[in-house]
Amino acid sequence: MTPSSLLLGACRTLVIFQLLACCLLPLGEAGQFSLQMEPQDPVLPAGRSLLVNCSTSCPHPELITLETSLPKEVIDEDQGWAAFRLSNVTGDSKIICSAFCNGSQMTSSSNITVYRFPELVELDLLPRWQPVGENLTLQCHVWGGAPRAQLTLVLLRGEEELSRQPAVGEPAEGTATVLAGRGDYGAKFTCRAELDLRPRGLGLFQNTSAPRQLRTFVLPMAAPRLVAPLSLEVGTSWPVDCTLDGLFPVSEAQVQLALGDQMLNPAVSIHGDTLRATATVIARADQEGAQEIVCNVTLGGESREARANLTVFTFLGPILNLSETNVTEGSKVNVSCTAGPRVQVMLDGDLARAPGEPAQLQVTATEGDDGRYFFCNAILEVDGEILHRNVTAQLRVLYGPKIDPAKCPQRLAWKDRTSHILQCEARGNPVPQLQCLHEGSRREVPIGTPFLVKLHHNGTYHCQAVSPRGTYTLLVVMHVQDRNSFVVTILIGVLVILGVVTAIVALMCIFGKQTRSGFYHVNQQDTSLPLRPVQPKEAVELEQS
Ligand SMILES: *[C@@H]1O[C@H](CO)[C@@H](O)[C@H](O)[C@H]1NC(C)=O
Ligand SMILES: *[C@@H]1O[C@H](CO)[C@@H](O)[C@H](O)[C@H]1NC(C)=O
Ligand SMILES: *[C@@H]1O[C@H](CO)[C@@H](O)[C@H](O)[C@H]1NC(C)=O
Ligand SMILES: *[C@@H]1O[C@H](CO)[C@@H](O)[C@H](O)[C@H]1NC(C)=O
Ligand SMILES: *[C@@H]1O[C@H](CO)[C@@H](O)[C@H](O)[C@H]1NC(C)=O
Ligand SMILES: *[C@@H]1O[C@H](CO)[C@@H](O)[C@H](O)[C@H]1NC(C)=O
Ligand SMILES: *[C@@H]1O[C@H](CO)[C@@H](O)[C@H](O)[C@H]1NC(C)=O
Ligand SMILES: *[C@@H]1O[C@H](CO)[C@@H](O)[C@H](O)[C@H]1NC(C)=O
Ligand SMILES: *[C@@H]1O[C@H](CO)[C@@H](O)[C@H](O)[C@H]1NC(C)=O
Ligand SMILES: *[C@@H]1O[C@H](CO)[C@@H](O)[C@H](O)[C@H]1NC(C)=O
Ligand SMILES: *[C@@H]1O[C@H](CO)[C@@H](O)[C@H](O)[C@H]1NC(C)=O
Ligand SMILES: *[C@@H]1O[C@H](CO)[C@@H](O)[C@H](O)[C@H]1NC(C)=O
Repeated sequence: MTPSSLLLGACRTLVIFQLLACCLLPLGEAGQFSLQMEPQDPVLPAGRSLLVNCSTSCPHPELITLETSLPKEVIDEDQGWAAFRLSNVTGDSKIICSAFCNGSQMTSSSNITVYRFPELVELDLLPRWQPVGENLTLQCHVWGGAPRAQLTLVLLRGEEELSRQPAVGEPAEGTATVLAGRGDYGAKFTCRAELDLRPRGLGLFQNTSAPRQLRTFVLPMAAPRLVAPLSLEVGTSWPVDCTLDGLFPVSEAQVQLALGDQMLNPAVSIHGDTLRATATVIARADQEGAQEIVCNVTLGGESREARANLTVFTFLGPILNLSETNVTEGSKVNVSCTAGPRVQVMLDGDLARAPGEPAQLQVTATEGDDGRYFFCNAILEVDGEILHRNVTAQLRVLYGPKIDPAKCPQRLAWKDRTSHILQCEARGNPVPQLQCLHEGSRREVPIGTPFLVKLHHNGTYHCQAVSPRGTYTLLVVMHVQDRNSFVVTILIGVLVILGVVTAIVALMCIFGKQTRSGFYHVNQQDTSLPLRPVQPKEAVELEQS
């Protein structure tokens, strides 16, 4: 059969078919004989060919034909039956067998049902991020698939069936709404097309879409808590801390910290559902002025941010300058204190005229100014905050040497062999050397330390303070009283009394004896007791020294 003859045949059968349908069928009375068709109401996949057998019990049937719009060919025929092959069965159709028996027509019809699997089952894209607590609508599209009456769209979360609806339209659309929860983070959704041919004696066929994974998130409306300094001096560093809690899934959250356009590199830590970023901000000189610190937490494509104002400032100085630090008495010293712009300085309690201007003072150096400290306080106001910075400078005045008479008694009256301290102080810068020398012997006496005063210490002393700046002398008279004369007098007195008492006792003994014997002899020599002056050892020592 050429394609053209096939087409011609098809057209002819179509005409016959129509004629049969319109006029002949009502005449279809074949008495007790019937016409059967095998198979009855077949179900077959699209594109297949089909064998149809029309048979009749009529003893002498005539013209057994198959009426169909499909291409057909006669395979075989015999007494009472004819077999046809229908090729390229792509759609549902109705076929009719017809035969004549004893002049009357018999017909039998059958419905061919073609089934086909869906070409494409697809679950629409899910949002990149789905907020927890909001409804999510899943949509599924199915292209192709027949018969539609047997096709059902099922939406699934994992194995759980969310919705089931018949396939309608091309593409068929199925939807389901789910309330997104935290548990849906990472959940896999799929769409399944079910072609249920079980009532037609076939199975249940399923085609499933590629799974789509959902990411749900929770990002509170609240802004992060940002802890940052109000002001920061250029070159100094300070920690900045940004936290936000109630995040889900906290591990997916991103945080950014920036000072102006300078991105900070924060260390991020997670505790429970709290995200914390800490960074150290170092103020640069080019950032001087009003700056903003921004903390930005991003999750699920949304972000929350906190801003804080920060003033970057420079605080120069104070610089305290003395025209000279080592001066001689009487010379003039200029003291000045300067600091950076906007800094108010105060020198020794006196404020400078205006912020940014130096404070100055002039002193004529006196001895009292030696070691004097000059104080300069610098005050800078940054954002209502008062910052202090202080410096000191010391002045050295060269003077002296001097001995203050009040601190160095010039008349001393001490007793021999007693311990004393010679108090004497000298002043001066440089510190003078002080020594007190005996006028006659040039012997030195210790100053400020205890010493045993002896007779030879008696005399006048030249107390001399010596420094590279000169010499200063103060006379000190030390009168040492001899203690021995007094002791000897007492001793002699005691001995005389003792001698007199001994003499009296002796005389009384002699007189007593003579009275008993009637006479007594007086020994002149014995009465005179040798009274030898006792030389105290102390006195000897005194003479020796
Ligand atoms: C057609 O049906 C008849 C009667 O049932 C049978 O005898 C014949 O073998 C069948 N032909 C084919 C090709 O199946
Ligand atoms: C089958 O039928 C379709 C249209 O229904 C047609 O496009 C196709 O060429 C046919 N195939 C064959 C092999 O005849
Ligand atoms: C065929 O039909 C004629 C009249 O139409 C009838 O007389 C005859 O009996 C029929 N034969 C059979 C076998 O039914
Ligand atoms: C074939 O289908 C038509 C409608 O499409 C229906 O009316 C008829 O009953 C069906 N025939 C059989 C034998 O199922
Ligand atoms: C989600 O959808 C359901 C009905 O599908 C509705 O009752 C519910 O109020 C919706 N919830 C939200 C948060 O929109
Ligand atoms: C649909 O499923 C059937 C079997 O269930 C399979 O043979 C067919 O290839 C599937 N089609 C697609 C597009 O996956
Ligand atoms: C916050 O961060 C996101 C992501 O990094 C960025 O797109 C957004 O512009 C940032 N917002 C601000 C105000 O910095
Ligand atoms: C930062 O400063 C600007 C202008 O000075 C002001 O409008 C804004 O409110 C300040 N922001 C904060 C968080 O204080
Ligand atoms: C300090 O003062 C001296 C003398 O007035 C001057 O030479 C010097 O440059 C000053 N130093 C500073 C830092 O102002
Ligand atoms: C100033 O004098 C002190 C001693 O008083 C000395 O140590 C220092 O070196 C002197 N400094 C100068 C700059 O002359
Ligand atoms: C600086 O001096 C002022 C006043 O003398 C004082 O109140 C302040 O505490 C001082 N600051 C420092 C850092 O020493
Ligand atoms: C002690 O010294 C003074 C004069 O400094 C002198 O007059 C006096 O006699 C001295 N006394 C003795 C005991 O040497």
